[in-house]
Amino acid sequence: MKITENSITLIRPDDWHLHLRDGAALESVIADSARQFARAIVMPNLKPPVTNVELAAAYKAEIEAALAKTAYSGSFKPLMTLYLTDNTSAEEIKKAAESGFVYAVKLYPAGATTNSDAGVTDLLGKCRPALEALQQYGMPLLVHGEVTDPSIDLFDREAVFIDRVMIPLRKDFPELKVVFEHITTREGAQYVRDAEGPVAATITAHHLLYNRNAIFTGGIRPHYYCLPVLKREKHRLALLEAATSDSKRFFLGTDSAPHAKGLKEHACGCAGCYTALHAMELYATAFELAGALDKLEAFASLNGPAFYGLPHNEGQITLVRQPFAIPEALSYTGNESLVPLGAGETLNWQFQ
Ligand code: NCD
Ligand code: ZN
Repeated sequence: MKITENSITLIRPDDWHLHLRDGAALESVIADSARQFARAIVMPNLKPPVTNVELAAAYKAEIEAALAKTAYSGSFKPLMTLYLTDNTSAEEIKKAAESGFVYAVKLYPAGATTNSDAGVTDLLGKCRPALEALQQYGMPLLVHGEVTDPSIDLFDREAVFIDRVMIPLRKDFPELKVVFEHITTREGAQYVRDAEGPVAATITAHHLLYNRNAIFTGGIRPHYYCLPVLKREKHRLALLEAATSDSKRFFLGTDSAPHAKGLKEHACGCAGCYTALHAMELYATAFELAGALDKLEAFASLNGPAFYGLPHNEGQITLVRQPFAIPEALSYTGNESLVPLGAGETLNWQFQ
């Protein structure tokens, strides 16, 4: 890694948590990720969800066809995932492990977030055969770590998930590789830092840059609404400390989740922030504000591949210190537009 007053050069990064969607939406967003990242773990929460290897193969082919229409054909590799359900069999996990293109399985507690209705209702009751197979094949379980119990305050759902699900899961499956996705709290960061066994976490750029005030500054701001929702400042600081620490357990996952402008600016607005456009600029901004630009390469380019048991990328990328005005909107599907996170603001770094 090379840092000068006006530039940062680092090993080409990967995005370990990305929503690419399908159809026209996929075609409109794919180049943004492929421009910066060499690989991405592609989330399976399509409608219908990607619940088996056959569907994952079809989705991979669709992504590759979309990539072929960009300048990045062949230089970006989608790492496919399966959507865990109460009925996922050990046989399907074996097929996934042997496929060579499925890299992980995603747990969405039923009803926790966008397109999660087919998710798991009782992980340790219903998914034991799948969990045993995942552990056996060394395939990571990616966890959306929030309970869905309506009696639990929305802002406490991650912390309660640790006690109710994560700790019992790790006790029963101590060798299972688990990625606690998009952690948002001090409790999440501490748990991952200290837990025994193969545990890691992804952290988004928006949870490093913003606290929950961003959703309510001068009125309700739907483009800052995502799940898990932004938390208090003390949690943001804990995430920043984790991301910039020397722990290899924390790595980059944008959770970039495009939704049409009209569905964000809505009486019941969708959860998700679009950050793929300027992901590395956002992360560089957060790391610089923390005085820790020298930690960006490990977080963005080294810790993720190490946890997944993959080599890091060959090439390098450079960010230069040049004002980058985040566009107000991007073109999306049909007549719809897509509003990137921080639209209208200016960042200090620009991807070259
Ligand atoms: C994601 C989406 O829109 O698919 N939304 C979000 O707020 N992050 C789903 C998810 O990752 O929870
Ligand atoms: Zn996500």
